[in-house]
Amino acid sequence: MTIPRIDADRLAARLHALAAFSTSQAPAVTRVVFTDEDRQARAWFRACCEEDGLTVRVDAVGNTFARWDGADPSLPAVATGSHIDAIPNAGMYDGTVGVLGALEALSALRATGVAPRRSLEVILFTSEEPTRFGIGCLGSRLLAGRLEADSGTRLRDRDGVTLDEARQAAGFTGDLASVALGPTHYAAFVELHIEQGPLLEQRHIPLGVVTAIAAPASLRVTIDGEGGHAGAVLMPDRRDAFLAAAEVALAVEAAAVATGSIDTVGTTGVCHVFPGAVNSVPSQCTLEIDVRDIDQVRRDAVLARIADACAEVAARRRVAIETTVVNADPPAACDPAVVDALTASCEALGLAHDRMISRAYHDALFMSRVAPTAMLFIPCRGGVSHRPDEYASPEDIARGAQVLALALARLAG
Ligand code: GLV
Ligand code: MN
Ligand code: MN
Repeated sequence: MTIPRIDADRLAARLHALAAFSTSQAPAVTRVVFTDEDRQARAWFRACCEEDGLTVRVDAVGNTFARWDGADPSLPAVATGSHIDAIPNAGMYDGTVGVLGALEALSALRATGVAPRRSLEVILFTSEEPTRFGIGCLGSRLLAGRLEADSGTRLRDRDGVTLDEARQAAGFTGDLASVALGPTHYAAFVELHIEQGPLLEQRHIPLGVVTAIAAPASLRVTIDGEGGHAGAVLMPDRRDAFLAAAEVALAVEAAAVATGSIDTVGTTGVCHVFPGAVNSVPSQCTLEIDVRDIDQVRRDAVLARIADACAEVAARRRVAIETTVVNADPPAACDPAVVDALTASCEALGLAHDRMISRAYHDALFMSRVAPTAMLFIPCRGGVSHRPDEYASPEDIARGAQVLALALARLAG
């Protein structure tokens, strides 16, 4: 077939336009699900899809599907996509490359005059980031039936707003149960993403074909101690919730390091201290902890070790510690046929590629439960991600979109 040509300038311009929907000052991007900025970005994205001649459907949680009908629209479609929400103080490429790169891939394919047998869909998944509701991959998790609608409905943000209230206020109505799609809905799913690690750049390899996605888990730990006057409560009498939390955070680090594997990571990324006054002993502290590994058994052993540490700290410091496992997801193996389609597309374009695992999680983790799935990585500068200085070059992004286009054409037949 004719080689699809990516309009790298248009793709870069769209990435910059999307980055402007942000609550933080450029170059930082913050776009939390269902905020005004997220809603505006979604409206802008919808206009892009319509400009590109795609038909748009939106489900009850805001997952957005932009479709190019194939020669036989009754066949399960081939899907691609990612997310556009961004954690606080993030960069502009995480997720967005996979959404806007997918639009560009479809446009490039169309321009070749090819008429794929299966329909092609670009999916914008709602809230891949756990920022607001504490759980990652909300949209793809619901879509894959890995989060029951009832449990989803009950999720609350830090201000007590439920997922139902937030999605409805953002204009996404209907039954949350209708978001789930069966295992025959899609013929394949491919996600294009920046690597979020340094390997491709270090090896001077432009593309990574992902064969497995690591297993993430997250915990919420609430510690109740006793507050009081910072001058008047004597040290031996204290039950300081923050100091207990500090010990738990150190225990997370120790538990991850203790596996002896470079593939185990543990992070305490959120710590809220109450009441948060300089002259007040902290009475309550909440931590959010992220633990990952490519080996689920080893990851679960780390979770158990953290639970033991919490019990020990609680007894010694005379505080109450409650631990909730927010999610503990299994890893995903990518589908060999989709991996092969990506590999063959790299080879057809004469592009070097490496097989690799994803240490970050992605919507592809959940799509793999309902469709043959794989991912394509492009390099990002210094391996940096989840930071304002995250960067991927327009050339690398366009290369990724081009390989994606070829792979979609192969998979759609
Ligand atoms: C996704 O953003 C992740 O935290 O891996
Ligand atoms: Mn991210
Ligand atoms: Mn991402």
